[in-house]
Amino acid sequence: MKPIPLLDVAKVTSPNPVTLICSRNAEGVTNLAAVSWWTYLSIEPAVIGFAMMKPSYTGETVRANKNVVLTIPGEALAKQVMQCGCSTGRTKSKARDFGIELKSLPDCDIQIPVHSAAAIQCRLREFVDVGDHYFYICNVENVYADDQERPLFAWNGYSKIAPLQK
Ligand SMILES: Cc1cc2nc3c(=O)[nH]c(=O)nc-3n(C[C@H](O)[C@H](O)[C@H](O)COP(=O)(O)O)c2cc1C
Repeated sequence: MKPIPLLDVAKVTSPNPVTLICSRNAEGVTNLAAVSWWTYLSIEPAVIGFAMMKPSYTGETVRANKNVVLTIPGEALAKQVMQCGCSTGRTKSKARDFGIELKSLPDCDIQIPVHSAAAIQCRLREFVDVGDHYFYICNVENVYADDQERPLFAWNGYSKIAPLQK
């Protein structure tokens, strides 16, 4: 074995998970950010966590209104996942600009992409300063799935978005 930078090991662990994290800003606009660094933390109570760069708009809005929905994007969104990961909701409306059709969930003021294989509706419990990222620890309120949607993953580290091979 040889020493490598931490981020390079993401190529070894590929395919990596990828989510579109949906949050709502003060104007009521749903923002979408590509996030691979999420994990299950507890089943009872149901808790998940995700890490986001400190300046991210998603982090700012989740810290402000506490509600957030993690979605697993379906195959139709491969191009848009990369677009949502290379732009910020601080300066654009990603769903509108990237042609992502949204739908509502029951008892949830944040919309999600129509083509979602799963949605985990959460409420922020706390966030922890872990370095260049904050780690957001969230109570899970509701979970939904659509088995007609083929889930996407991040390949070759985070450079390609595609489903698993059949
Ligand atoms: C495949 C992929 C995975 C990503 N995973 C993360 C992640 O886990 N954490 C993070 O902070 N940013 C991640 N990003 C980058 C964010 O999506 C990017 O910083 C985005 O501009 C944040 O949007 P926002 O400012 O609207 O929140 C990822 C990008 C891509 C393309």
